[in-house]
Amino acid sequence: MQIFGVDIGGSGIKGAPVDLERGELAQERHKVLTPHPATPDGVADAVKEVVGHFGWTGPVGITFPGVVTGGSMIRTAANVDKSWIDTDARTLFGSRLNGLPVTVLNDADAAGVAEMKFGAGRDRKGTVIVLTLGTGIGSALFVDGALVPNTELGHLELGGHEAEKRASTKAKEDHDLTWEHWARRVRKYLAHVEMLFSPELFVIGGGVSRKSEKFLPLIEGVTAEIVPAQLQNNAGIVGAAMRAATTA
Ligand code: BGC
Repeated sequence: MQIFGVDIGGSGIKGAPVDLERGELAQERHKVLTPHPATPDGVADAVKEVVGHFGWTGPVGITFPGVVTGGSMIRTAANVDKSWIDTDARTLFGSRLNGLPVTVLNDADAAGVAEMKFGAGRDRKGTVIVLTLGTGIGSALFVDGALVPNTELGHLELGGHEAEKRASTKAKEDHDLTWEHWARRVRKYLAHVEMLFSPELFVIGGGVSRKSEKFLPLIEGVTAEIVPAQLQNNAGIVGAAMRAATTA
């Protein structure tokens, strides 16, 4: 079965039909730039363009980089326009997509769901934490494979700062940090999250997971196993489609 997945990110909005048996994109994904400011109307237009590119007429799963409750209500908007807060995203996207069934979930939760079924977390029991390092830091917490949604561990405080302001890949780029310097920050962050949750496994996602050899070997003093995500940039799209298959 195929379902459409859309991933809303800080720089791009990308989507494709997903083959749910294989956990892969069924066609090459289509990407448009995220509008600035990333308002609900602007983002909804971009989502319409992505979905319209494929002439898709079935259910659509959409990720959002903030807290999403009940598959619809946006509660936070750290890295997108604040006017998203309290937006009913299912209604917004559903009407923009001419009534297609829509479900919305947090972007890191979507990536996590995909990694747990098809990627680095496959068949893993116990506590697993998927962290996406990008514009912000997203988190997805799994206990015996079940998602505890909207954990928002990127906003933990680390040395008097929000963790995502220190250890996201945006922080690395903004402050021109070396891999060594940035890895020290990521190490501190992982040690803090480990202190709170004692996971068996950390899965590190986001675009930087493609360069894991540059920083994962530098991370010491964390007991949990640490592995790079396997679905990389498509995890959000795949996870969104998986969720839509069960709820939209
Ligand atoms: C948001 C999270 C999101 C993460 C990654 C954070 O700033 O609060 O909801 O998952 O960024 O996009």
